[in-house]
Amino acid sequence: MDFKNKIVIITGAGSGIGKACALRFAGQGATVIVADINVENAQKVADEIVTNQGNARPIKANVAKFEDVEKLINKTVSEFGKIDVLVNNAGIGPSYLKTHEATLRDWDRVIAVNQTGVFYGMKLALQQFLTQGYGNIVNIASLAGLKASPNNISYSASKFAVVGMTKSAAMEYATKNIRINAVCPGYTESALLNQLLDAKPEMDAILKSVIPMKRFGKSDEIAEAVLWLASDKTQFITGQTITLDGGTSL
Ligand SMILES: NC(=O)c1ccc[n+]([C@@H]2O[C@H](COP(=O)([O-])OP(=O)(O)OC[C@H]3O[C@@H](n4cnc5c(N)ncnc54)[C@H](O)[C@@H]3O)[C@@H](O)[C@H]2O)c1
Repeated sequence: MDFKNKIVIITGAGSGIGKACALRFAGQGATVIVADINVENAQKVADEIVTNQGNARPIKANVAKFEDVEKLINKTVSEFGKIDVLVNNAGIGPSYLKTHEATLRDWDRVIAVNQTGVFYGMKLALQQFLTQGYGNIVNIASLAGLKASPNNISYSASKFAVVGMTKSAAMEYATKNIRINAVCPGYTESALLNQLLDAKPEMDAILKSVIPMKRFGKSDEIAEAVLWLASDKTQFITGQTITLDGGTSL
């Protein structure tokens, strides 16, 4: 997959799946805008890309703040003149409580980042895509956006919303040379999964027992699908979800 001369924005690119996407896109020639609320991690990822002869710009952006996402899009366009790909990846986990015990704070923060953040990114990138006449969005949803996910109400709501936004918007721009797809990872090794495993170590064996492949996914494996959807190899694919879950959904 060739991303030479392509400008790729990835949110939450300082860690996990976003970082794996950033390194892979850069490895294929893209200039990567490494956006994260944690600017130190964004800087580290950008440094790693540059050390490997790639092109990257770190930028601090909280996707839950419209002004931050606006700045991210505007700065990219003013420096590079275009955006080829937006990967809406930034996301946070819930507090793993049953619905009647879930706190309003947990609901608000998860929806703000995982759902509203994706909407902000799509809205602003699409304005630029319409101006330039092309564009590609890959949203990182989740297996929790396709099937029941107990003790996860805010996360479940946010990821079902990402799948819905992906499909609805894909229809709106299908004739505009703009494609929008989503990937739905199952349990994938990352800081987000570690949060759960640190709090409840017994979940390691429990989760692996329901994964037919008996292992967690790797961030690199998810990134591979993101690049494919963002590439010219998938010109006739829009509004789709690709599930990478070692067979869990089966
Ligand atoms: N790891 C899994 O098992 C799994 C499964 C399904 C879906 N996902 C999704 O994959 C995406 C990436 O998660 P990950 O597993 O790599 O987790 P991660 O915690 O390793 O990475 C998430 C990154 O997002 C950043 N971030 C958090 N809030 C932000 C905000 N408001 N604005 C900008 N950046 C922010 C974090 O600083 C971090 O760098 C998320 O959307 C997550 O929901 C993960």
